[in-house]
Amino acid sequence: MKLAIGCDHVGIELKPVIVEFLEELGHSVQDFGTDSAARVDYPDYAQAVSQAVVTKNCDLGILICGTGVGISIAANKVKGIRAVVCSEPYSAKLSREHNNTNILAFGSRVIGPELAKMITKEWLDAEFQGGRHQKRVDQISQLQN
Ligand code: RB5
Repeated sequence: MKLAIGCDHVGIELKPVIVEFLEELGHSVQDFGTDSAARVDYPDYAQAVSQAVVTKNCDLGILICGTGVGISIAANKVKGIRAVVCSEPYSAKLSREHNNTNILAFGSRVIGPELAKMITKEWLDAEFQGGRHQKRVDQISQLQN
């Protein structure tokens, strides 16, 4: 798959760890920054990654900020995005299977690199189950109209 990734200044140490992990898994990665410790605004990176996903330039997206909260809230404002912020793998897996999430967010101040990799792997390996969940995902889409 092709993954879009982005972070704010709080995520600059965790992001390269996840990029390397994704590449080891055989995915290609488009990195939308940021790459320096200079203070930036997380909605800008949420927007860049979200656009890459909704335009199908990338299959899925990953976003990192301090908590994962602000950047996932921002991403969820973009029509067609279903972003989940996760600190453990169970919710990450179920968010794909039931909610068809297309962006995974986590907080670099909340979880360490090994847990972030585990969450990422569970999320990527899971597949949307459709069926009864499709109706609910469609209802979510209606809320955006
Ligand atoms: C930046 O200080 C911080 O607010 C941001 O990384 C994130 O945690 C917001 O939700």
